[in-house]
Amino acid sequence: TGPRWEASADLVVVGSGVAGLTAALRATELGLRVLVVTKAGVADGNTRWAQGGVAVVLPGEHDEGDSVDRHVADTLTAGAGLCDPAAVAEILAGGPAAVTGLRAAGARFDPGAGGLLARTREGGHSAFRVIHAGGDATGAEVQRALVATARDGRLPVLERHVAVDALRTPAGAVTGLTVLDPDGVLGVVRAGAVLLATGGLGQLYQATSNPEIATGDGLALALRAGAAVADMEFVQFHPTVLFQPGATGRRPLVTEAVRGEGATLVDTTGAPVMRGVHPLGDLAPRDVVSAAVTRRMTQAPGGVDDHVFLDATGIAGFATRFPTVHAACLAAGIDPLREPIPVTPAAHFACGGVVTDTSGRTGVAGLYAAGEVARTGLHGANRLASNSLLEGLVVGARVAEAVAADRPADTERGRLPEFPPVMVADRDPLQRAMSRYAGIGRDAEGLAVLGSVLDLATRPSGLGSQRAVEDAALTLAAQALLVAAARRTESRGCHVRVDFPGRDDVRWARSQLVRLSPSGQ
Ligand code: SIN
Repeated sequence: TGPRWEASADLVVVGSGVAGLTAALRATELGLRVLVVTKAGVADGNTRWAQGGVAVVLPGEHDEGDSVDRHVADTLTAGAGLCDPAAVAEILAGGPAAVTGLRAAGARFDPGAGGLLARTREGGHSAFRVIHAGGDATGAEVQRALVATARDGRLPVLERHVAVDALRTPAGAVTGLTVLDPDGVLGVVRAGAVLLATGGLGQLYQATSNPEIATGDGLALALRAGAAVADMEFVQFHPTVLFQPGATGRRPLVTEAVRGEGATLVDTTGAPVMRGVHPLGDLAPRDVVSAAVTRRMTQAPGGVDDHVFLDATGIAGFATRFPTVHAACLAAGIDPLREPIPVTPAAHFACGGVVTDTSGRTGVAGLYAAGEVARTGLHGANRLASNSLLEGLVVGARVAEAVAADRPADTERGRLPEFPPVMVADRDPLQRAMSRYAGIGRDAEGLAVLGSVLDLATRPSGLGSQRAVEDAALTLAAQALLVAAARRTESRGCHVRVDFPGRDDVRWARSQLVRLSPSGQ
């Protein structure tokens, strides 16, 4: 059956996290009619779970010798040869103005000495440049400030509405979306520009720091609309989520800033995990720490361990500095002031995504992407900690400016293209297979098994419910990731091939683009 309701805007934004709301608010300032479509509540995205902070070098508020250029250099080092240096320089240079704008909109960052903001360090940073809020609740404060501004300005937001597919003109320009309302009734939103700001895909894995909504929706929508994705094999695993035996769903994060303030990783025998692994020790880039933790767990003296420990007992004022982590530990029956915290790696962030420029343009007219769903070239093969809230702020605002400058297509001519049936795998077997064969250590044999599981477990489906849209997105994301991971016969950043342990700069110092073929596969 066809659409039963219709709406229109100059810009429709899918998702209401940091990138989506920043874009929507800036576009409204520029005089555009904006509509936000979000599949849960306006504050329910991934952003609110971000802990560590925002990495930024603010004028007059930085370590001796620190600079935007040094922040750029750290980002390029963490990205292991796959960042786009021009994109890194452009986005990070936009950081100070973006943070100033966010503070003007009401976001309150934690104060430090001498009237300046408090700054911490995280993995891969050569200086103290991560500002934070509420101790370890930075994402929650960023989200609060943006939602409050949106409410004050009466920004129209359709909550519990699920974007399904893009409308396109005969020439391929995107001119709106089909959307399911909270009762599952299909409607059409016509718009000269569509911004995908749908966040990540942590739900591809059994263990993730991401909430239930992180199902790769925008990625799949973009692929079906003809856009390319890149760097899909680089899923970042956070080294430290709270380990709880038998846990399911979102795992509480133990922010890297805990190590920034002096905590150390030790194995179940008490031996330091990071000693001798990397000059930055416990504050090595995240890919290095996650791989080292995984190695230590699989080479444990008494067989395979399912966790290591983070010893934070030496941190003075832990409960005040890290209230979110403290509360999560207490809820799990652990007192981090007296005992080490059991931790394990878990899927955390998609470094790759829909290929865009630094203004969110995808190469498909009318279609933009920003935030975790996008691949601007900032993160390369491994995102530097706390660069993602910053990217959402900077690129979100730039998308609004790009939409105001680009000429929209005639929205009346957009129709839903004829798709072959969408293929969908059941979520549980998909998550199990992804965790087993496409987690931190991968090899050709395991990736081939994953391919067979995906072939055997998928069946044609419609997109008539939120669950079906999400499962279709997860399936397409898994297929794109598998293609890229199987081809990349080297280890680099977050992509660790146990059968190709070395980095191969002769063959592989480039990103891999994946597109959907006309048959839909
Ligand atoms: C953390 O607080 O450890 C996470 C920060 C990030 O993922 O950038």
